[in-house]
Amino acid sequence: MSILVTGCAGYIGSHTCVELLNAGNEIIVVDNLMNSKKEALNRISEITGKSFPFYQVDLLNEQELEKVFIENEIDAVIHFAGLKAVGESVRLPLRYYHNNITGTINLLNTMKKYNVNRIVFSSSATVYGMPQKVPISEHFPLKALNPYGRTKLMIEEILRDLYQSDQNWSITLLRYFNPIGAHESRMIGEDPNGIPNNLMPFITQVAVGKLPELSVFGNHYPTADGTGVRDYIHVVDLAKGHLKALEKIDTSNGVESFNLGTGKGYSVLEMIEAFEKAAGIPIPYRIAESRAGDAAICFADPMKAKQELGWAAEKDLHQMCEDSWRWQSKNPNGYEESNPHLSKSGDFFYAKK
Ligand code: NAD
Ligand code: WQD
Repeated sequence: MSILVTGCAGYIGSHTCVELLNAGNEIIVVDNLMNSKKEALNRISEITGKSFPFYQVDLLNEQELEKVFIENEIDAVIHFAGLKAVGESVRLPLRYYHNNITGTINLLNTMKKYNVNRIVFSSSATVYGMPQKVPISEHFPLKALNPYGRTKLMIEEILRDLYQSDQNWSITLLRYFNPIGAHESRMIGEDPNGIPNNLMPFITQVAVGKLPELSVFGNHYPTADGTGVRDYIHVVDLAKGHLKALEKIDTSNGVESFNLGTGKGYSVLEMIEAFEKAAGIPIPYRIAESRAGDAAICFADPMKAKQELGWAAEKDLHQMCEDSWRWQSKNPNGYEESNPHLSKSGDFFYAKK
């Protein structure tokens, strides 16, 4: 298949591009690089030995986006592009609504114009708000608690309305739980700007000496050790879920949501312990105030994805921690400083103007 990937240079997009290429698909990729580096694209080419056209295009620019559809045959779209920081979305709601929602509407309008009606959308477990019970199934009530979450929920609703209006569309909403880990080659991984918001990149930056200690946000939750419990999933497992979703939208129309999680929950203290074991490095931490808006426990019921997509996560917590550490230790400054042992000079992808 020939797949347009938006947000290709980001954390999940880059891992998915590798899996798409390794499975023999063609990719056409788009990113405005507002939260990622071009070097990620070199690394994708290096891992796979394949090249692909890259358009440095902002989805807010519909004319530039249209060029991508004019110049390429596209069978389906995987739509990762979006802003994702919860705290920032509270401070800058208009930026989030404009980027995520207007960007998506531009993409859908352009798809419609060029008769491309298959899309896999990056949704999030955040659409379940504060879950009343676990494990969380797809039919649970939906409620977002912050502007970022509302962009995900609104886009899900826009996509449902689109299908209602035209049943030729084939739409998959993938609700990711907590992606961590990195590609086993240690050439691509998560490279957050500034101080990480999420647990695993914070832990790896403490381990590599960039940050002094981890703050554990609260230890009075109703969990076994009092710290928050989440469903961490290896980013490569997550990436593979997109290939299964593509198979589904290739053969049936409709709009369907799927949880992509492991179905297992780990606490913050269990995560620290698992990381220390995998990396052989102690992680200094202190107990801090709980973070506003955090749920105590959140983990998926992943059965629908297993039954209907034939997908299940395979990698365990040890592998997730090991791969997170292998990436961070080989790339202490992320993609910023090109490691000559990891990336040869020159662009392996080709940039389109
Ligand atoms: P990321 O920030 O690493 O990647 C997103 C990419 O989209 C970046 O490369 C960014 O430059 C690009 N982008 C943003 N706005 C754009 C625009 N207007 N035009 C073109 N490119 C644009 O994020 P990620 O972790 O890879 O997440 C990918 C998707 O998955 C996002 O939609 C995110 O909301 C969703 N998601 C992520 C997580 C997570 O924990 N990482 C969990 C659930 C859902
Ligand atoms: C995990 C656990 C924290 C950092 C977020 C988004 C969600 C989705 C995934 C995009 C919690 C604790 C964290 C730290 C800590 N993203 N923690 N110290 O909050 O489950 O989900 O990312 O869709 O929308 O909200 O992930 O990694 O931030 O936190 O103690 O420095 O680690 O309290 O229990 P979260 P997280």
